[in-house]
Amino acid sequence: MKILVVGGGGREHALCWKIAKSPKVKHLFCAPGNAGIAQVAQCVPISARDIAQIADFAVREKIDLVVVGPEEPLCAGLADLLQKREIRCFGPSAAAAEIEGSKVFCKDLLRRHRVPTPGFQTFNDTNQAIAFLEAQDEFPIVVKASGLAAGKGVTICNDRNEAKLLVKKMLELRSLGDAGSQIVIEEFVKGSEISVLALTDGNAILPLEPARDHKRLKDGDAGPNTGGMGVICPVPTPHRFRLQIEQQILLPVVHAMNRENRKFKGVLYAGLILSPKGPMVLEFNCRFGDPEAQGILLRFADDIVPYLEAVADGTLEKCEGPRFDPRVSVTVVAASPGYPDNPETGLPIAGLQSIDEDDTLRVFHAGTKLSEGKFVTTGGRVLAVSALGADLMEARARAYDAMDAIKFVGKQIRRDIGIRELADAT
Ligand code: GLY
Repeated sequence: MKILVVGGGGREHALCWKIAKSPKVKHLFCAPGNAGIAQVAQCVPISARDIAQIADFAVREKIDLVVVGPEEPLCAGLADLLQKREIRCFGPSAAAAEIEGSKVFCKDLLRRHRVPTPGFQTFNDTNQAIAFLEAQDEFPIVVKASGLAAGKGVTICNDRNEAKLLVKKMLELRSLGDAGSQIVIEEFVKGSEISVLALTDGNAILPLEPARDHKRLKDGDAGPNTGGMGVICPVPTPHRFRLQIEQQILLPVVHAMNRENRKFKGVLYAGLILSPKGPMVLEFNCRFGDPEAQGILLRFADDIVPYLEAVADGTLEKCEGPRFDPRVSVTVVAASPGYPDNPETGLPIAGLQSIDEDDTLRVFHAGTKLSEGKFVTTGGRVLAVSALGADLMEARARAYDAMDAIKFVGKQIRRDIGIRELADAT
């Protein structure tokens, strides 16, 4: 088979690494890829945003399956374009990807189908949003831009003034451009967050093991929101919660999308809060999480390609649930100085050669390139180390040992990935 992976981050490196291990794959391309991906796939210099060129390339190269990593090309209609050109695709149509591309659509869908989610109102008018905030007694409150905002769209506002200022910035001053021209104001619900990703062909679902991302930049969940600074997988989740997530959240949403002519084929990512009232949906994404994919795929014990094909072909009900390595994975992300606002680039990266990689410990590149034979940084999140261990303590030790061997000026990492769960377990 010939497979093309679209994207160039850590998630796509993990996907390429896993796909390249499949005996079914004869040739693996990645557009655009990065310096790490180039070690397992042929990188093609086409931006993930250039959906017309990607479709042309797929036709020209007679690609058997396109696997789309990021949300942007999906929301822009890459899967639809590929379908028109009779190329199989792992990833939803633009209509289905709206579950991530429009938080207003997503929350309305959840309300229509009685899927548990925190209370909310949607607005595109500043005065109405301000009047709503004036009438609220309970703070904090959550303000969300409806559109895609590269991880910058969700803010927990601690008081009314903070919320009013933010609403004005988004709706009037268009601080996030069109992404913030509609907003959701949502009840703040206490609890612990988990990410549950499920493969689905629009009928059957196969949930993957729960993971927990650490979205803030600094230890103790301080600092600004980021794309994600580290992940543990699995997250111990009571059986009744797993059942509720499957029966009351994932399946109803997949069937609702189907009934509304937005059949979802790909990986449906539920961002959940485990609240005293049970699991509730904070958001849905239309793709693998990053860095969730790195932590999950290191534990995915089967050949992934038959699953990707079954999703694209609509035959997932014939697949057994995938097996997972019983060990725990810990993933630690290293980001550039200045990330997330103004990441510095072009910094030499040392120490990669000293790391002994195998199937239990991998370095997944994100913002890297080779310059005169040496690795340098090119973006905000630079790379991640994912490691397996018999328990969380061992997985953390292995991941941090490897991460400490990797050096670049101003490297930012969190030191507390998995610390809370370690404390909970003892
Ligand atoms: N790690 C969060 C995300 O992928 O959206």
